Amino acid sequence: MYIIGDEEIEAVARVIKSGHLFRYHEGGECARFEDRWGEYLDRPYVRLCASGTNALICALSSLGVGPGDEVIVPAHTYMATALAVLSSGAIPVIANIDESITLDPDSFEQWIGARTRAVIPVHMWGLVCDMDRILEIARRHHVLVIEDACQCVGGAYKGRAVGSIGDAGAFSFNFFKNMTCGEGGAVISRDKIAHQKVSCLIDSCGFFWTGKDEGVRPFASGSARASEFQGAMLNVQLDRLPGMLERMRNEKKRILAETADLDLSPAPCHSLDHECGSHVVYNLPGAAEADAFAERVDGTVCGKTGRHTASEWSPVLDHTGHVNPGMDPFKNKANRECRMDYDPGNYQRSLDILNRSVMVATHPGHAETETDGIIQKIRTAAKEIQAKSS
Ligand SMILES: Cc1ncc(COP(=O)(O)O)c(C=O)c1O
Repeated sequence: MYIIGDEEIEAVARVIKSGHLFRYHEGGECARFEDRWGEYLDRPYVRLCASGTNALICALSSLGVGPGDEVIVPAHTYMATALAVLSSGAIPVIANIDESITLDPDSFEQWIGARTRAVIPVHMWGLVCDMDRILEIARRHHVLVIEDACQCVGGAYKGRAVGSIGDAGAFSFNFFKNMTCGEGGAVISRDKIAHQKVSCLIDSCGFFWTGKDEGVRPFASGSARASEFQGAMLNVQLDRLPGMLERMRNEKKRILAETADLDLSPAPCHSLDHECGSHVVYNLPGAAEADAFAERVDGTVCGKTGRHTASEWSPVLDHTGHVNPGMDPFKNKANRECRMDYDPGNYQRSLDILNRSVMVATHPGHAETETDGIIQKIRTAAKEIQAKSS
């Protein structure tokens, strides 16, 4: 969900006219965005990068996650979450989601094993995970928590911004997110050392001349530096964000309130007042009902979105962890004790829930009459489906 207007065009034009396209200069747009996003999240350690996937890889690597480690991921997330684990050299282990469409804390705990180093709760579709329970379990088992907030930009859990609650957080600013600069990402770190490692992971050469004297010895990495175009767009997008979120949250609450009398089960929300409000989700009795409901309300069956379900993550299921076999985590001897059999039965419960759950999207630009129309469609569809089944 994003809105782009003349302000973004003017901001990018200003960068072109200034001649400062590279991020390292006094008063730069990237640095200004990092400061402002840090204020929004109430965490000082923010670093912009090229994508959400890169942000996840940097977050994992900066905390020392790598070969020999398992990282628990939910069965429902964009494939990039699991692939980022492989790119860090570790092995993803798939846990179930529950009716909230986010990580089931009980399944997370059941999957903790001798090699578990971290968990990635994913705040999917603007919904937020049950962070109290996830953090409590993680702390008890000494497991790191890395939040994938790529789909929940600006959302919060009980008043705390997502991405700032765990040991590290990752955001995406690609074309589909609440704030976009076309492509982009950000890493949130818990302390200065992790932040410096992230800076070096994102831009090793740049770190050598800007940050090397502050505690972390420069090491080799790729380059995923953000440009001033990205920073300039994000500074405008950030101004729009609070208003957009307020409108989406209000629309979601109105839809829920005006369909509450129906024989319909809304998916449990872990923080309705603070999540993004970008989707209203209903858990239907079965897959056939979900298909019919989705068609009538212009919704989407959660299990049919493409690459968001473990059964579709072919590089994971096929054990193709790298183009170079010598760098493939599935073939690395350090990972030989990690669990990597990916039996579909392990996440069948997630598939069942996803195939009987339907999302209806809100939009910050919706007029009251458009919301009326959505509510009417939901009411009619729910009654038709109930009449058929009784
Ligand atoms: C949950 C989730 N994690 C990670 C990513 C990866 O972000 P990017 O496309 O910016 O690499 C996405 C992208 O859509 C996502 O939805």
